[in-house]
Amino acid sequence: ADPNRDKQIEAHELTAKLYHHLLMNTKQGQSALAYLRGRGMSDKLIDQFSIGYAPESWDTLAKFLDSRKFPLPLMEKAGLLSSKQDGSGYVDRFRGRIMFPIWNRDGKVIAFAGRIMGDGQPKYLNSPESPLFTKSRTLYNFNNARPDIRKRRKVVVFEGYMDVIKTWSAGIRNGVATMGTALTDEHAAILARSADEVTICYDGDSAGKAAAMKAIPMFEKAGMTVSVAMLPGNMDPDEAIEAYGPDAFLRDVMDHPVSAVKFKLIYLRKNHMLEEDEGRRKYLLEASKIVAELETATEREMYMKELSREFGVSMDALKQDVHAVRLTNQ
Ligand code: UTP
Ligand code: MN
Ligand code: MN
Ligand code: MN
Ligand code: MN
Repeated sequence: ADPNRDKQIEAHELTAKLYHHLLMNTKQGQSALAYLRGRGMSDKLIDQFSIGYAPESWDTLAKFLDSRKFPLPLMEKAGLLSSKQDGSGYVDRFRGRIMFPIWNRDGKVIAFAGRIMGDGQPKYLNSPESPLFTKSRTLYNFNNARPDIRKRRKVVVFEGYMDVIKTWSAGIRNGVATMGTALTDEHAAILARSADEVTICYDGDSAGKAAAMKAIPMFEKAGMTVSVAMLPGNMDPDEAIEAYGPDAFLRDVMDHPVSAVKFKLIYLRKNHMLEEDEGRRKYLLEASKIVAELETATEREMYMKELSREFGVSMDALKQDVHAVRLTNQ
C-alpha cells in the first residue's frame, strides 16, 4: 500500500462528504440545490450519487483539508487544490460548482466533475489526471453498474453524468459514461470483460452521432455486439426523460436500439441528397460497403431487402454490388 495514495483517497472521500453537506444543509448551497431540483433531481437521487456543492470561495476546502492535517502539496497533486500563481500557497480548484464525485471500481472517490450553474466555460471542470485518476481507464458509474452489467452481460454507454443519473432513476442499472474525453480502447476492453453486448446511447446532436460512429468499431474490436439507442432530435437522454417522462424514454428509446449496421445506414443518409438520382446512386454504393462487412449471408440479405424496397432496386443488383465489395476486401 502507498500511504500517499491512501491519504489522497481519504481526502477525496471526506471532500465528497463536505460538498454534499454544503449542498444539502447550508445557505451557501441553496441555489445549487434549487438548480438540481429544477433539473428534476430528487433528494434521493442527489443522495445516491453523493452530489455536492463547492462554494464560491477560494479556501473552503484548503482550510478544511489543512485542519485535518492533510499535506496540501499532496492535495494539489490529487487535483483537489491548485497552487497560487505566486507560489505562496494553495486555493480550492473547484469553486461555485455542482460537484459529482467520480468513483473507482471499489467505489472510492478518486476525482470530481464540477458543473457550472447556468452558462459559462467550461461547463464541466474535471479533476486533472492524477495518481488516482486516469481518464482513459475510468468510466463514470462503473462501480454501481458492474453487478448488473455482469449479471446480464450487457452495458449501456452514455455521454454524460446527468444521463447516467436520470436513466438510473428510470430503472437502468447498467449505464456508464466516459468522462468528457472520447471512448478509448481501454474503456472498451474494460467493458468487454464484463459484457458481451453494448448499447450506445449518446446525445442525438451531430457530435453525439459522430461519436457513436467512432465508438462502434472500437467496441466491435473489443469483441462486443453493438447496438445504438437513438434519441429524438438533438436531445440527450436527460432531456428526453424530462420532456417525455421515464416510461416513454424506456419504451421508445431504450427498448428499440438499432443494430450497428442499421445505425451506419441511417447516419450515411445525412451526407447524400436522396431526392436526386446521383445522390441515391452514391448512397447505395456506400451502403453496399457497409452491408458487405456483415459476416453472414442472411444478415446481408436482411439489409439488402430493406434497401431494395426503399430504393426500388432489385435484390439481384444489390447482391452483385455487395459481392463485388466483398471480393475487393478479401
Ligand atoms: P454534454 O455537453 O452533452 O453535457 O457533454 P451534458 O452531459 O448534457 O451536461 P448537462 O446536462 O448540460 O449538465 C457530455 C459529457 O462530456 C463531458 C461531461 O462528462 C459531460 O457530461 N464534458 C462536457 C466535460 O467533461 N467538460 C465540458 O466542458 C463539457
Ligand atoms: Mn445526504
Ligand atoms: Mn453532448
Ligand atoms: Mn448531453
Ligand atoms: Mn444534458
